[in-house]
Amino acid sequence: MTLRVGVIGGGQLARMMIVPALELGLEIKVLAEAEGSSAALAATQVGDYTKLETVAEFAKTVDVITFDHEHVPLAILESLEAAGVSVQPPSRALAFAQNKLQMRRRLHELGLPMPVWAEIQTEDDLQEFLNANGGVCVLKTPIGGYDGKGVRIIRSVADAQDWLEPPALARVGGTLLAEEKVGFIREVAQLSARTPSGEFKTWPLVQTTQTNGVCAEVISPAPGANDETISHAAEIARAVAEGVGVTGVLAVEMFETPNGRLLINELAMRPHNSGHFSIEGSVTSQFEQHLRAVLDLPLGSTETRAKWSVMVNLLGVNDRNDFVSGFASILAAHPEAKVHTYGKGARAGRKMGHVTVVSDSLDFATDEANATAQALLQG
Ligand SMILES: Nc1ncnc2c1ncn2[C@@H]1O[C@H](COP(=O)(O)OP(=O)(O)O)[C@@H](O)[C@H]1O
Ligand SMILES: [Mg+2]
Repeated sequence: MTLRVGVIGGGQLARMMIVPALELGLEIKVLAEAEGSSAALAATQVGDYTKLETVAEFAKTVDVITFDHEHVPLAILESLEAAGVSVQPPSRALAFAQNKLQMRRRLHELGLPMPVWAEIQTEDDLQEFLNANGGVCVLKTPIGGYDGKGVRIIRSVADAQDWLEPPALARVGGTLLAEEKVGFIREVAQLSARTPSGEFKTWPLVQTTQTNGVCAEVISPAPGANDETISHAAEIARAVAEGVGVTGVLAVEMFETPNGRLLINELAMRPHNSGHFSIEGSVTSQFEQHLRAVLDLPLGSTETRAKWSVMVNLLGVNDRNDFVSGFASILAAHPEAKVHTYGKGARAGRKMGHVTVVSDSLDFATDEANATAQALLQG
């Protein structure tokens, strides 16, 4: 009997699950928000994931429900679970990926390392936090943010006026999250996967570079990371996965500080941009692993296939990026580059695709991945 996976959300993460699903002989179905989604090549149904009826009907056609994004209302997932549907990751875990404040509270209970943080409801709360943290902080909306949207550096209460106004505040749940502005030496991410039965595996710790809050480049493994940091990051990921009850792929974004500490920034409970390198760089990609994990199948090896993998995002420069002009000559000039495009409409700053180069030379992988991405974006 064919195992059937239902993915809610038709973005590039769902799209990239299609290939390993075909390879493993699984059936993959997508509940997309609109026609012509990035994942439209899978059996796709268009529907509203905020409507219980729609999601429940979709769930009847598959063996497990999983996600391309974390925005499905918890109440819907809870009622599916109550009806016996396998939802992976389960709603009780996903709650902490949906809401950055709840995540901070839970990580605090688990005793895991984080930036200094506070809950902000009023101008006075914010002023007090600024005073206690050198006059600067990072303010975040707890829900609905992504790719740097909903994250702002604040130096005075005035910088946050629009977010503190009652209607705006109510839209994000009534409370904002303030964090110390961490003077990190770099950002890293620990990708892992866990099955409902409890099998757990990590990939190498990677270095991520964000530009304007959006992931731009990922290097696997994080260059120069010492053994202690590497094993600490893996321990943090395991503590989160087990403590929160995550199943499927989990990404833990962290800051590495000058004194060698790791502080958790945020969690994603699905395949993540920091793991795209694994398609070519690992024996088992994050997309294949996610499918295995949510179906409670044994996990595949996460050994690397080459010493280095470098992944560069194709972030739209304008609304004309179609990757058609010059495509053949770019591929001819960069035969080592693995080019992925997501079939999305072009828009400045949008994640349109990525390029990965694996090599035993970090310089070669970095140069080739960046040169190919530049060429593709300039067309
Ligand atoms: N407390 C912080 N200190 C310093 N930089 C931060 C902090 N929080 C976030 N950032 C920067 O902003 C980026 C986006 O923030 P994040 O909370 O990960 O939002 P998103 O949900 O948009 O990914 C981070 O990758 C990091 O570069
Ligand atoms: Mg982030």
